Amino acid sequence: LAGLTPQDILARMTLDEKIGQLHMVSADAVITGPSGPPDGLRDLDQGRIGSVLNVWGDEAAGLQRIAVEQSRLGLPLLFCLDVVHGFRTVFPIPLGEAASFSDEIWRDTAEAAAREAAEAGVSLTFAPMADVSRDPRWGRICEGGGEDPLVNARMARAKIAGFQGDDLRDEARLAATVKHFAAYGAGVGGREYDSADVSDYAMAADYLPPFRAAVEAGVAALMPAFLDIAGVPMTANRALLTNVLREAWGFGGVTITDYNAVAELIAHGAADSGLAAAALAFNAGNDVDMVSGLYHRHLAEAAAQGLVTLADIDAAALRVLRLKQALGLFENPYRACPPATPAQIAARRGAARRAARESLTLLRDPQGALPLPRQLDRIAVIGALAGAAADMRGAWAETGDVSAIVTIADGVRAAWPQAGVSVCGDDPAEAAAAARAAGVAILCLGETAAMSGEAAARANPALPDGQQALLEAVLATGARVIVLLSCGRPLAAPQLFAADCAVLVIWGPGSEAGHAIADVLSGAASPSGRLPVSWPRAVGQIPVFYGRRATGRPHEAGNRYSNGYADLPLAPQFPFGHGLGYATFVWSDLQVSAANPPDRTSALTISLEVRREAGGSPEGGDCAAIETVFLFASVRVPGRTRPLLLLRDFTRIALRPGETRRISFSASPDWLAQEGLIPAPEVVSFLEIIVAASAEPEADPARCLRRVLTGPCGD
Ligand code: IFM
Repeated sequence: LAGLTPQDILARMTLDEKIGQLHMVSADAVITGPSGPPDGLRDLDQGRIGSVLNVWGDEAAGLQRIAVEQSRLGLPLLFCLDVVHGFRTVFPIPLGEAASFSDEIWRDTAEAAAREAAEAGVSLTFAPMADVSRDPRWGRICEGGGEDPLVNARMARAKIAGFQGDDLRDEARLAATVKHFAAYGAGVGGREYDSADVSDYAMAADYLPPFRAAVEAGVAALMPAFLDIAGVPMTANRALLTNVLREAWGFGGVTITDYNAVAELIAHGAADSGLAAAALAFNAGNDVDMVSGLYHRHLAEAAAQGLVTLADIDAAALRVLRLKQALGLFENPYRACPPATPAQIAARRGAARRAARESLTLLRDPQGALPLPRQLDRIAVIGALAGAAADMRGAWAETGDVSAIVTIADGVRAAWPQAGVSVCGDDPAEAAAAARAAGVAILCLGETAAMSGEAAARANPALPDGQQALLEAVLATGARVIVLLSCGRPLAAPQLFAADCAVLVIWGPGSEAGHAIADVLSGAASPSGRLPVSWPRAVGQIPVFYGRRATGRPHEAGNRYSNGYADLPLAPQFPFGHGLGYATFVWSDLQVSAANPPDRTSALTISLEVRREAGGSPEGGDCAAIETVFLFASVRVPGRTRPLLLLRDFTRIALRPGETRRISFSASPDWLAQEGLIPAPEVVSFLEIIVAASAEPEADPARCLRRVLTGPCGD
């Protein structure tokens, strides 16, 4: 095959072999188990399987040998796996990494994960997830960049760059799959596998931009979502999969259905037979059928009946062949990255520690409990999660090496070697005794890994049962209490946020959990995570997000007939962008290169000075502290209602005590445009730019600067 073009190869293939390229099977179809060799092995040596899910290492090499040496054309298989936030080394869950607001971290951890999975012969990952999510009930909110389209777009781009690099032929890289196209985060009630009704506006402004960014970044593959949108299952959604994705955006990569989604078109009620389901999914624009087997069984018959065309089968098979060629599989079917050197392994662990550390988000510290003194005689580490290695992996990291996880207790012991560290579980009496004896309690609360991820919707995303009682027992001792909150989503926990304790969100921190957490607890690093999602006070505030549109009756305290709730504040518990640190920053001198809104030919430069005050707490005073600056715009256009704020850019800067630096944003000429929904900037009637530390700009006046560029819009 080496030297042949994908077109040449296609010309030699039978219809069955072409359909084989569109058939992905899972491990159980091809790996010999207790009941002997599975039927899939026959398909394999007949060239009727194109890709395999959840097989790597020696087993993958064995299957590849059959495909390459025994099938008529010797076409290699593609080995696919959900390398979402790590393979053996686990990086923070994506929602946690999003909190770092660091394109560099997002890219670096994807690159490290790709290399490690590629060492085991994996060639394609089902990541990144680019679904905007404003519903913490949804279990999969943990897998993406949170509520904001720009953050999801930037994160998707960085992840794709990290997974794929410049050339997929590089054995250390993986082909990436952006998922779940589209609006999977909009499922009703946060339920998995449900429906969504999404307006054209929301689709264009919120849900599609991250996918478009992924396509522009050259993502190799795309996966449609399980849900239906306005009555059309995404697996059957030709308007989005073909008209938008292929025709409008020019996506030339491979589309891969979600697991068994073709067959599920029957349960959706959209198809009444395997044949109809296969034709419907294929004609919508799905190249590869993940495990349902319906293409395998029915696509040839569908072609014979004129339900699908041979030309479309050729086009789909060609896209798969092109991907295999791009990966170099025709010359190098056993492609596997050489094993990492000790230095590379150390760098990988370093990347995991940095990513975890910079994703830790300090929500509150009313008593100034943090950082903890370097000299402590005793520390109590409390809660079942304190020593729970597997749970530190978070969701979608089952391949992660549990034996190499640094638990919270391990990290505390390593950072305070001279202290007596007592570790205890969830029993309130035992916990209270340990807290009382130590005087300092690190209380590990929140979700286990299994509580978020796929099929982990929670109607009540709150503290798990029993944890409130544990919190109260520990607080009653009068000890200095730091709560480490493990979670794959924001948890509505008003009592926790009213209590006398610091709360540090650790998300699902990954392999270096304990070390990263100890870095922050000890003041070796200042916490720098910022919330990529608004944090609800109660489930009733969901969906919760900062980009709400302006209402005709804005919220007004004391005015019943204004926007809001009768029983709760309108504002979330903590806004998008919120996160405390040990240092104090002051912003000043906002400069904008144009007095009026930019036209479509001139860029706009926005800059400001960020100063870090000298001093600070003794433990946290000297460490580099990271500040994050969000650039929001508030734009009004005639005849429309617009979101109150829209994120247009963000950046971070690390400063030493007393240091000042100017940072600048360069806004492209069409920075106001939002997927064509907004007319040209000339008709903008009001434009204000706001640089702020969170989506509640007024919450911190020292870190908020605003400039009206045009307006007011009149009375
Ligand atoms: O990639 C995943 C997808 O996100 C959910 N269903 C299963 C797929 C393959 O594991």
